[in-house]
Amino acid sequence: MKATRYLMAPIWVAQLATGAKSFRDNPVIGSAEFNRRGLHARRAKLAHDMAWRRRKRLARLISAEDRVAFDSDGFVAREEFLPPDDFKRLRDAVFAHRAPAREMLQGDTITRRIAVDPEFIAAVPAIRLVLDNPDWRGLNRYVGSFDQEPLTYVQTILSHIRDARPDPQTDLHIDTFHPTVKAFYFLTDVAEDEGPFVYVPGSHRLTPGRLAWEREQSISAAASADRLSSRGSLRATPAEIEAMGFRSPRAFAVPANTLVVADTVGFHARGFSARPSVRVEIWTYGRRNPFLPWTGLDLGSVPGIAERRIPWMWEARDFLAKRGLGAQPWQDVGRLRPQDPPGRPVG
Ligand SMILES: [Fe+2]
Repeated sequence: MKATRYLMAPIWVAQLATGAKSFRDNPVIGSAEFNRRGLHARRAKLAHDMAWRRRKRLARLISAEDRVAFDSDGFVAREEFLPPDDFKRLRDAVFAHRAPAREMLQGDTITRRIAVDPEFIAAVPAIRLVLDNPDWRGLNRYVGSFDQEPLTYVQTILSHIRDARPDPQTDLHIDTFHPTVKAFYFLTDVAEDEGPFVYVPGSHRLTPGRLAWEREQSISAAASADRLSSRGSLRATPAEIEAMGFRSPRAFAVPANTLVVADTVGFHARGFSARPSVRVEIWTYGRRNPFLPWTGLDLGSVPGIAERRIPWMWEARDFLAKRGLGAQPWQDVGRLRPQDPPGRPVG
């Protein structure tokens, strides 16, 4: 064990200059002693400062109104994002297409993902109404603070599919220590009690209260009983969030054809779901080394590569998992439509 530590130490240190976030898996990032002296807090502060600097250079990609809204709240929400006829055409085409799907079971909830890859784009050309939309492109870039193509999926949330503890995503949390984008373009209505996206407005800002909380958490996070907190997605109680001085959480109970783009370094959750429901959205995710000074130069954004990244990532993880070299929580469930019932028995 000592020899391993000796060999791994340079890698653990090098990871400080990346988006590595697990307190549990990296003894340097998780060191109570270093974090008491402010290691985690300094990493978070630097990553936030750099993201805001990059955003300044990307501000031309979005409207002044969206920029003001995002800078204040940490999200931009727009109802009737596409003209109603375009929306219906897109939704009907997405719902009718059976595509290779992956599912992950967490608690009583299944998340299904379908890659928006070349095959999907060829079968559902209406998806271009979103992918090529300048506001869609600009918001993903500004909020994510990089001029990069996000990973794009059709995502379905099937809630209450079995009797189990609630889905862990229902606790308010941050995804990681640095700014990062997620976008949701809802293809179904989302009711208040059907697991809406919940966000604490303004919590994307590293205020003194938030910074002090992160510092405190980072000291004990490696040993936290909460697996997701110990791996860098820190959980907070509503009382802690109030004590940090943030506003009350907002639940996005919204009609279909609403776009929400958010920085998930802010506190967010999947809201309470009172009954079985099926939510479908076009969903993106964009993350990169938060310490890069430039906004572009992303190989993964090159056309031809960008749309193939998701199937490649799935295959790579399947390959490793088969050889016992990692977990693959995303199970291959064959070809499904977004609203189909679960692709495998869930007990
Ligand atoms: Fe999250």
